[in-house]
Parts: sequence; C-alpha cells; structure tokens
Amino acid sequence: MKRPSHGGNLAWAASVAGCQASLIVDFSASINPLGPPKSAIEAISRSLSELSSYPDPNYSRLRFSLARWHQLAPEWILPGNGSAELLTWAAWELSQCETTYLITPAFGDYWRALSAFNGKVYKCSLNLVAKDLSEVIGKTQGTKNKGLLLNNPHNPTGKLFTRETILPYLEEFALVVIDEAFMDFLVPQEQESLISVVRDYPNLVILRSLTKFYSLPGLRLGYAIAHPDRLKRWQSWRDPWPVNVLAAAAGIAVISDKDFQKATWDWLIPTRAELFAGLASLPGLQPQPGAANFLLVSTEQPSSQLQEKLLKNNRILIRDCLSFPELGDRYFRVAIRSQKENYSLIEGLAAIF
Ligand SMILES: Cc1ncc(COP(=O)(O)O)c(C=O)c1O
Repeated sequence: MKRPSHGGNLAWAASVAGCQASLIVDFSASINPLGPPKSAIEAISRSLSELSSYPDPNYSRLRFSLARWHQLAPEWILPGNGSAELLTWAAWELSQCETTYLITPAFGDYWRALSAFNGKVYKCSLNLVAKDLSEVIGKTQGTKNKGLLLNNPHNPTGKLFTRETILPYLEEFALVVIDEAFMDFLVPQEQESLISVVRDYPNLVILRSLTKFYSLPGLRLGYAIAHPDRLKRWQSWRDPWPVNVLAAAAGIAVISDKDFQKATWDWLIPTRAELFAGLASLPGLQPQPGAANFLLVSTEQPSSQLQEKLLKNNRILIRDCLSFPELGDRYFRVAIRSQKENYSLIEGLAAIF
C-alpha cells in the first residue's frame, strides 16, 4: 500500500502495524479527541427522517445560524462539503490572477486545488522563527493582479499570524483567501480571524471548517465567508446540494454548543503544554510552539523511521512530513490527544531513543 500524503490514513497504518485499523491511535490527523459532541449526534439522529428529502439548496437555516454566530447577514456565508470543497472554488478564482502567493510548507490540498485550474504559484517560504508575515512574503512584485492564499493558524507549523500583519495585504492583492480551518481552537480573545473586517474588503475570502474542532471529518462541513456576489457566483457553479441534511443539522447544533467549546479549550491549553514539554525532554526532538491542536516537531532521527517503529511497537500513527518537501524527513507532526494517549506517545518515543 502506498505511503499516504494526508494524515488519517488508518488503512495504510494498519497494514504496517499488522492490526485492525480501529486499534491505531491516530496522531496524524488533527481532530479534536473530545468529539463529536453529543449535540451533533442528537441533531443527526433527529434529522434521519429528512433523508428522504433533498436538502434546501440555500441552506437557509444553517446560513442563518452561522451568520448570527459571526454577526453577519446570511448572504455573506456559503456552506460547503468541508472547507476543501470551497477551497476548490477559491482556487478557481485565484487561478484567474497572474500568480498566487502561497506560504510554504503548505497544506497539500492547496496544490491540488490550484493545479486543477493551472494556477501559477509563487512560493513564500515560512521561516519558523519569522516574527511576522512581512518577513515571509517579502516585497511583492508586479501588478496588483495577484492572489494570496494564507492558512492561519498555519498547518503544519501551528504558527499564528496577527490580524494587523495580514491587513496590509488586502490593499496589495486582488484576492486574499484565508483558510481559518483551525482558528476555533484558540479561545475567542486570542483568535486572529479576519471575519470582523470581511464587509470592508470585497477581495477577502475566509474559509472555515467544522470538521476539526467538532471532530466531524467524515460528515464533511465547512463554510466560506465573503462578499455575497462572489458566493452567489460559486453557488451557480457547483452542484445544488453539496451539504447533506445530516451535516446541515449537525452544523446548526454544534456552533451553539458552548459546553463543548469550553471543554475543548479547557482540555487543549494545558494538554498541549504538557505534550510540548514531554517531546522537548526527548533527545534529538524539538517541538515548535503552536497555536492549534497539533505540534510540529523537528527530529534528528528520520521521521519515517520513527513513524514505522511507533506503528509496529505501539500502534501509534504520527504524521511524517515527506509530503511537505520543505520539511521532509527532519520533521513530524502530532495532534494533541488525551493525556493518557499523549503519555503513550512519549513512552513509545522514549523507548525508541
Ligand atoms: C489547513 C487545512 N485546511 C482545510 C482542511 C480541510 O478541512 P475540511 O475537512 O473542512 O475539508 C484541512 C484538513 O486537513 C487543513 O489541514
């Protein structure tokens, strides 16, 4: 079986570990281990009777709930089949620009989406010690007809860019797409979302995911926030019902689930600090400080070897970084999981060293 280029490929991991996929402890996909929330499961159960009808193609109830949450009008929001679906439409529009500035290493799906439309990419390499975005992007060149695709917080490094450092690029670029798939993991007062300024910038698109924070990657649900004209255009291009009735119902339920949100922040902050300290205490490993629910770790031993040993010895799957050419075998990424599972990761690594 081929080595996967995304996290979360449990069939491949099980074939290496020689066990059932359900026995693998998955640190490779950055999914909240507290979920899915009960509120999602209950909403899905209540909506099973709707399976015999098509979804509302306007997703009015879901849009209304998301809009109320973000204090926007519903026409500024477009739900999608995961944020990955909306990334495809954003990439189509980016590919109409002369070039798209992309911060690398970059989430693999950006390459998929941009290359699908022959988008021209200008790579801006992310120096892990860079303090702000201008150090990464440098001086921009050419006409204003250029796009910027930025992930904040950034996967796989966990780096968070401040709103202030992003704002000047809204004047400089024809189209700015910000993927905030992991922003919910920050407590509200620490988030650096650009949602609050979206009404001022028709060239701004924000992509949000509900699959990571609410642990629903199999359900597929995300949304775009952008000028209503742009979203109407996207809606006219795509199929009429990309979000199924169960996902739409779960979305409405989870965004008002304050208990789950608080429980996640209460778990993440101390648990991430503890995992960071555990990793930093091991020889040859250096975790990078990260704002999201994962940590990027530099390693003296090749990460593909560590990955294989952890799978065979402990049935633990970590994310090697071979699909990020800028990182390669010198890095791996781990999700933050329960305290007990994090201990077993540290023990597994300690045994290898
Ligand atoms: C940075 C980033 N953006 C978007 C996505 C896609 O999320 P979704 O499940 O909402 O399609 C991922 C998934 O790994 C991701 O890492």
